[in-house]
Amino acid sequence: MTNATEQYYPGLEGVIAGETGISTIAGGLQYRGYSIQDLAADSSFEEVAYLLIHGELPTQSEFDGFLERLAGARSVRESIHALYRSLPSDANAMDVLRTGVSILSHHDPDTGSNALDASKRKAERLLAAIPTLITSWSRIKAGNEPVAPRANLDFSANLLNMLHGSEADEVERNALDVSLILYAEHEYNASTFTARVAASTLADLHGAVVAAIAALKGPLHGGANERAVEVLEEVGSRDNAESWIRNALATKRLVMGFGHRVYKDEDPRATILKDFCMRIAPQRDATEWEEMSDIIEKVMWDEKHLPPNMDWPAGRLYRMIGLETEIYTPLFVAARVTGWAAHVIEQQSANRLIRPRANYVGPEPRAYAAIDSRG
Ligand SMILES: CC(C)(COP(=O)(O)OP(=O)(O)OC[C@H]1O[C@@H](n2cnc3c(N)ncnc32)[C@H](O)[C@@H]1OP(=O)(O)O)[C@@H](O)C(=O)NCCC(=O)NCCS
Repeated sequence: MTNATEQYYPGLEGVIAGETGISTIAGGLQYRGYSIQDLAADSSFEEVAYLLIHGELPTQSEFDGFLERLAGARSVRESIHALYRSLPSDANAMDVLRTGVSILSHHDPDTGSNALDASKRKAERLLAAIPTLITSWSRIKAGNEPVAPRANLDFSANLLNMLHGSEADEVERNALDVSLILYAEHEYNASTFTARVAASTLADLHGAVVAAIAALKGPLHGGANERAVEVLEEVGSRDNAESWIRNALATKRLVMGFGHRVYKDEDPRATILKDFCMRIAPQRDATEWEEMSDIIEKVMWDEKHLPPNMDWPAGRLYRMIGLETEIYTPLFVAARVTGWAAHVIEQQSANRLIRPRANYVGPEPRAYAAIDSRG
């Protein structure tokens, strides 16, 4: 047996659990060396997806080929829609998405292969099909027919078109696209680490992504964007904001959308999205929500020194562009699948099984007692 070190950090807080060349939080969040400020301002989600999956920003011809492959892989089989129609309409959208990704694995031509090219092809196909899964479920559960994907729309425009059955305006498309860029990758967060642990056993990409979706669903991780909107709905008005948040803190309530394991002063993604929210709020009749948010942020900072995380502005941004709360976390998946795939590929290319040790805190050794002699 190899010796474990004696250091133990609950929740692995502060522990370096591996190496990555995909993103860093130190010195400002960067994806493969590019700052998220630059990517959010000048790039598109599809370019960022290429950067994460393939390692570099694409040349024009590489990008054209990538977009063509994505457009060709957007449709899902009718049998998935049939299965979705058979599910209870109150099934959780993240659970349904997880099931959908599992089914995609059975039909993927590369499903059994962990070769580098196969993993990249699978990553592209998943990226292309996940918006179709998300929007199909959203429409089927509401009693509507799914809208077929359109090859002549970009990733975000196509997603919104499949969701609503009509083309989104440029503000909506851009808001979604920027949020997807910011959600795409974030080092060793819980769902990405989950994906890497699965990949380290030589499980395949789909299996790792299914595990990651399960981890992302939790309210302490991706589920927080939906809960952040519920907070604002509960607050209800600017006049109620200060007393609401003071009462929440006095009763030791966890305020969703605040705090972060790594960012203790500022989540730079939240800063970018808050700016976006403030710019579009007046056109979207949402200035009171911005004012409520400001009051809550100020009290959280003054009283607890907790900054908002990205889910805080993301939730209300999605609300401003007319999206239903229950697809907010699935939209996080639509973006983060690029980061997960990049990490799975990185893990596969220099694999070592991830298998830490635990401090045993159970009973001392004791004798087995037959069932009829147990008291
Ligand atoms: C993200 C999160 C899990 C990080 O947790 P963590 O690194 O373990 O932080 P800690 O639990 O050590 O927090 C330190 C203190 O701030 C408090 N705190 C942290 N987040 C808080 C929040 N959102 N609301 C109220 N108090 C909070 C903790 O209770 C703790 O207080 P204490 O010292 O009096 O016990 C936590 O901040 C949280 O649950 N946030 C809400 C969920 C959320 O928005 N998740 C999305 C993350 S991107």
